[in-house]
Amino acid sequence: PPLKSLAGLPDFDWAARHYMNLSSYTYYRNGAAGEWSYRNNLEIFQRFRLRPRVMVDITKIEDSFETTLLGHKFSAPFFISPCARAGYAHPEGEVGLVKGAAQGNILYMPSLYSSRNRSDIYAARANTSQVLFQQVYLDDPSINVTAALFKAIEANGAKAIVLTIDSPGDGVRHRAARSGVGSANTGYSLFTWEFYKQLQTLTTLPIIPKGIQTVEDARLAIQNGAPAIFLSNHGGRQLDTSPSALEVALEIFEQDRGIFNETEVYADGGVRYGIDVLKLLALGVKAVGVGRPFMYANTYGAAGVKRAVDMLKYELANDAANLGVGDLKKIGPQFVQWKPSGWW
Ligand code: FNR
Repeated sequence: PPLKSLAGLPDFDWAARHYMNLSSYTYYRNGAAGEWSYRNNLEIFQRFRLRPRVMVDITKIEDSFETTLLGHKFSAPFFISPCARAGYAHPEGEVGLVKGAAQGNILYMPSLYSSRNRSDIYAARANTSQVLFQQVYLDDPSINVTAALFKAIEANGAKAIVLTIDSPGDGVRHRAARSGVGSANTGYSLFTWEFYKQLQTLTTLPIIPKGIQTVEDARLAIQNGAPAIFLSNHGGRQLDTSPSALEVALEIFEQDRGIFNETEVYADGGVRYGIDVLKLLALGVKAVGVGRPFMYANTYGAAGVKRAVDMLKYELANDAANLGVGDLKKIGPQFVQWKPSGWW
C-alpha cells in the first residue's frame, strides 16, 4: 500500500505483514508465551477513560510538544524504542530509523543487536548533534569487556546508555520459534544494583535502566543513582503476564508518586495512538517509547519512519485539544479516570 494511504500507526503493522517475509514479520510481532502481556499492553489503554475539559484555549498546544530528555532537546515527548534487527524490514536497517528520527527531530535508541554496524548507524546521523541513546545488553558482564563496550559507545557518539535489565532469561516465544527465528537475548547472572553502581564508574554517560516493572524497583533505581528510569515489559516479549508500563506508572502514582519528580520516567509498550501517549504523560511519565510501529514503518525506510512520527504528532495535537489540554506540560492525573465507575 502507498505510504500516503496509511492513516495511523496500526496500519504499518498491516503493511509490514504484506511486505515482510513471514518469519521476519513474526520476529517483530511476537510476544512471550500466551501473549497475554502483548495484548494487555494494547488493551489496557482502553480501560483508562479520559476526563475532557471544555472551553480551554488550545491554540498553542503544538508549542508545548518540545521536551528535554537528560538535557537534550526534542520536538515531541515520544521516541523510538530500541528494537533488534531492523534489517528484517528494510536493507538500510537502523539507518532508516536514524534518518527518520532526525527528520522528525525525535530521540532514537538503537539496539545493541542491530543489523547494521554501530559505526554505520552513528555515521547516518544528520550531524553529530543528533542525539542517540545506545541500548545495551551485557552478554559478557565481565568488567573489562563491559568497560571496552562502554568506551566504544562513547566513541560512537552516544549521549546515554540504556541498559536493558528485564531479560535475565530468554523470552519464551512460541510464535517465533515455530517460524524458526530465535530470540537474540542472552541472560546474564551478575545483575544486581551493586553491579549497576560499578558500571557507572566505567563511563561518563548516564546509564538508564530499562525494564522497571514495580514501584519497589523504581525506588531502588533512584537510590542507586539512575539518571532516568524506563518502565517497560519489553513489548510483552519476555515474561508473559508482566504488567504494562501504564499499570506500572499507575502503581508508582498511587504508592510513591514523588518518583515522577525525582527522576525522568520513560515508558513503553502498546503505544499506538496519540491518546495512549497522553494517558502516560497524565500519570507523570516524561516521554513515551514506541517499538513495533516504527520497526514496521521502516519497511518504507526513513520516509515511513518520518510519516509515523508525523501521524503521532498530528494525533497528539488533536487529542490534546479535544481533551482540553492547552499545554502538554500541564497535563495531569485529573485528565484520566481508571477506577471502575459502574458504567464501563
Ligand atoms: C524489542 N525490544 C527490545 N528491547 C531492548 O531493550 N533491546 C532490544 O534489542 C529489543 N529488541 C526488540 C526487538 C523487537 C522486534 C521488538 C518488537 C522489541 C523491546 C522494545 O524496546 C520495546 O520495549 C517494545 O517494543 C515496546 O512495545 P511496542 O511499542 O512494540 O508495543
